Amino acid sequence: MIRLAEASGPGTRVLAVDDSAVLAGGDAETVELRRTAEDAGRAGAVQILPRPLRTPAKVVLVGVGAADEAGWRAAGAAVVRAVPGDEALSVTLPDEITPAAVRALAEGLWLAGYRFREAPIPPRSAGVTLATSNPDAYADSLESARVTAAATWLARDLTNTPSAVKNPAWFAEQVVAEAATRPGLTVTVRGPEQLAAEGFGGILAVGGGSATPPCLVELAWNPPPASRHVVLVGKGITFDTGGISIKTRDGMKLMKKDMGGAAAVIAATLGAADLHLPVRITALAPLAENAVSGSAFRPGDVITQYDGSTTETTNSDAEGRLVLADALGYAVARLNPDVVIDLATLTGANAVALGKGTAALYSHDDELAGALETAGAAAGERMWRLPLPDDYLDYLHSDIADRHSSPTQGAGSVVAALFLSEFLSDRLDRWAHIDMSAPSWAEKNEADLTKGATGWGVRTLLRWLATA
Ligand code: BES
Ligand code: MN
Ligand code: ZN
Repeated sequence: MIRLAEASGPGTRVLAVDDSAVLAGGDAETVELRRTAEDAGRAGAVQILPRPLRTPAKVVLVGVGAADEAGWRAAGAAVVRAVPGDEALSVTLPDEITPAAVRALAEGLWLAGYRFREAPIPPRSAGVTLATSNPDAYADSLESARVTAAATWLARDLTNTPSAVKNPAWFAEQVVAEAATRPGLTVTVRGPEQLAAEGFGGILAVGGGSATPPCLVELAWNPPPASRHVVLVGKGITFDTGGISIKTRDGMKLMKKDMGGAAAVIAATLGAADLHLPVRITALAPLAENAVSGSAFRPGDVITQYDGSTTETTNSDAEGRLVLADALGYAVARLNPDVVIDLATLTGANAVALGKGTAALYSHDDELAGALETAGAAAGERMWRLPLPDDYLDYLHSDIADRHSSPTQGAGSVVAALFLSEFLSDRLDRWAHIDMSAPSWAEKNEADLTKGATGWGVRTLLRWLATA
């Protein structure tokens, strides 16, 4: 629990130190402690100073760097890691701190405190007081941070859940249960019969090899004053073996995370409802397990996508684009969207191009791309825009179908994005695709990430939706 208060709360006192000594004030001891801080100001640097025989019995100095959002977020995360969870904290907020910085601080405190458990256990039993002379000024910041963190936690929980539990029906049940606790949300779940009746050939092909059938979840937030309709699409492969084109032992290890895009768009939509954002949102999660079995689709099969076009599939491991193509085609044909954004753990090539921590952003719309980049930067999620070169569309040529799903010419993340772009029809210029394979998982505890699923995308989407 994090609360705002006028006076310092109980427990260990936390003092911020910035790199240019802008943060001044406080009593003589505070001033002196700041002055003598080692490693002064480096964002996330923590120094614990005992105060024998006095109350509080210790002070934590934490660096906030340039005292911007990134610096305060890093500070919040570092403090939570440095102090045991049963110890109360009281953070002395400087008078000049901005609401955005308070939001970032609270996000850091909450996000770094995440732990995955079979049953949720509150990671911090003792509370955090944010001491300020003006608590009212920061109430909205704290609420935005709380909702953002809760939504990110949900996405992390869904992604960390083992695939023996997390089949498509289970995921859909979680969405139904979450939506039921919030007014203004509706959920529709299409099972295999309905998918077949409506022509979702990509989802059915990919899910056909599994003992647990595929489905399409549609979660809608429809507030009365909405001006725009945003459709969010997330790849929801609950486990990716590669199918008949089976992955290697190492390549398969983390494939329970292959629904991270679906988790992010669902969690962000729930968060938008919690924040009462005045924008209409439809989140689509095409859910399937890409399994190996006698009923799995085969390399060389030709499938018919939702939009009626055909895809030759010579590599069953390129399954994500097949389920996304159906959902994108459905969004464009049936939902009349103003903007379409899809998030997907789509290619290993994302990490080859940009390394572990950076998503690849694609769009023909400079304004949309810019707004997403701005939102990501503020939210603390990194992405980098890559091109959609027209001439590479030739790579998608197939002799026997409208297109080919897995060309081998290289630039895997780009070619996958180009494949998706084929299903946007007249909304092509109002679409963005984010390949978030790489940043969907953290190898270790670091800053606001805890080892395992990161919930990547929830923060960026919530920031962007607040401006959409
Ligand atoms: N889910 C994988 C992509 C992936 C790989 C995500 C590693 C996260 C970490 C996706 O379905 C896949 O297998 N993509 C193939 C595409 C290829 C067959 C064209 C890939 O990246 O190798
Ligand atoms: Mn795959
Ligand atoms: Zn996959």
